[in-house]
Amino acid sequence: MAIAAPARPAVPPTALDVEAVRADFPILGTPVHGRRLVYLDSAASSQKPRQVIDAERTFYETSYANIHRGVYELSARATEAYDESRVRVGRYLGARHPHEIIFTRGTTDGINLVAQSFVRPRLRPGDEILITALEHHSNIVPWQLAAAATGAVLRVAPVSERGELELDAFEALIGPKTRFVAVAHVSNALGTVNPVAAMIEMAHAGGVPVLLDGAQAAPHLPVDLAGLGADFFACSAHKMYGPTGIGVLYGREELLDAMPPVQGGGDMIATVTFEKSTWAPLPAKFEAGTPHIAGAVGLGAAVDYIEGLGRDAVAAHEHELLTYATARLADLPGVTVVGQASEKASVLSFTMSGIHPHDIGTVLDSVGVCVRAGHHCAQPLMQRLGLVATARASFAAYNTRSDVDALADGLERVRAVFA
Ligand code: ALA
Repeated sequence: MAIAAPARPAVPPTALDVEAVRADFPILGTPVHGRRLVYLDSAASSQKPRQVIDAERTFYETSYANIHRGVYELSARATEAYDESRVRVGRYLGARHPHEIIFTRGTTDGINLVAQSFVRPRLRPGDEILITALEHHSNIVPWQLAAAATGAVLRVAPVSERGELELDAFEALIGPKTRFVAVAHVSNALGTVNPVAAMIEMAHAGGVPVLLDGAQAAPHLPVDLAGLGADFFACSAHKMYGPTGIGVLYGREELLDAMPPVQGGGDMIATVTFEKSTWAPLPAKFEAGTPHIAGAVGLGAAVDYIEGLGRDAVAAHEHELLTYATARLADLPGVTVVGQASEKASVLSFTMSGIHPHDIGTVLDSVGVCVRAGHHCAQPLMQRLGLVATARASFAAYNTRSDVDALADGLERVRAVFA
């Protein structure tokens, strides 16, 4: 079954009705330390709208059974809901076919699957895997494991002080020994949007397949994987207003077809004897065991929710907040924004002179403002920038300018506490 082209609005996207969006998220009405909750950590995990919570509850209350196994009506209903979510996610990401969408536990799981099943068997001693200096640990360590098992080598394309990829250096690193390229679409630590179309073109010119770590792109940017020509793309539902414990690996059909399964078990086989087993076709080959069925239903509701808001409208809203927040923080004495890329999405990393990011995060928490503080699972990037950690505010469709004002007021308080 092929996926029909995604429905694109014929008119320009309208601005978000943010108050209506906020009303969809029950948790935003929950006070923290007696204060209004100001949630600025959606890059770590987004909050969940009623539509997603209700979809899972309704599924459990009306349609739940195991899938692909029962001959009874309820199992057929559950199977249909699970498979239907795959179709929606495929459409959301611009896949050609639903079976190019593999449900995983999350981004990390998807990247490890590609590392072990596609890349590792193709590596010989001295072969190279190319990543960039701004990767999340989950797009570094799986390649180190594959390299260590095969004698291959990890190469790292540099980033500038501004947190932008040095594209010429990236291209120069693609050579006859390069077997694979794995890059973040959007940096979780700095918000840099990488020029992935150009990067894919450069890699493909050398015959090298590309995986995009899409964890921070899928919730925030319109993504069209078939159009981009990406070979693999991994993302997580919990950053997309969906449930935890489920994510997606997209892979081009011909690549997934050529890959061996990495987990054996129920549902992923065609036949089993004690001598030999054969594999089910895509996508079941990579979904051994009972999957996170309700999670898939929740993810389907989450992509419907984002599409209902309008992906361009969400991206525009978040960009406006990022611009506003960058200007507000620039006015605060002692605050330095980390990551000045010309293309950024939804993430604002910063430091305050003389104050550890963990202390920033703790004082902000006392006034109800949630930010992440630390190395953001990107220790090599922090080292490159000469930092141990940053504080990070990240935005989603439910954030407002008054959230940013609360952050700025909170930072004044941080300064007062540590003066
Ligand atoms: N990878 C998530 C983050 O950047 C957890 O915060």
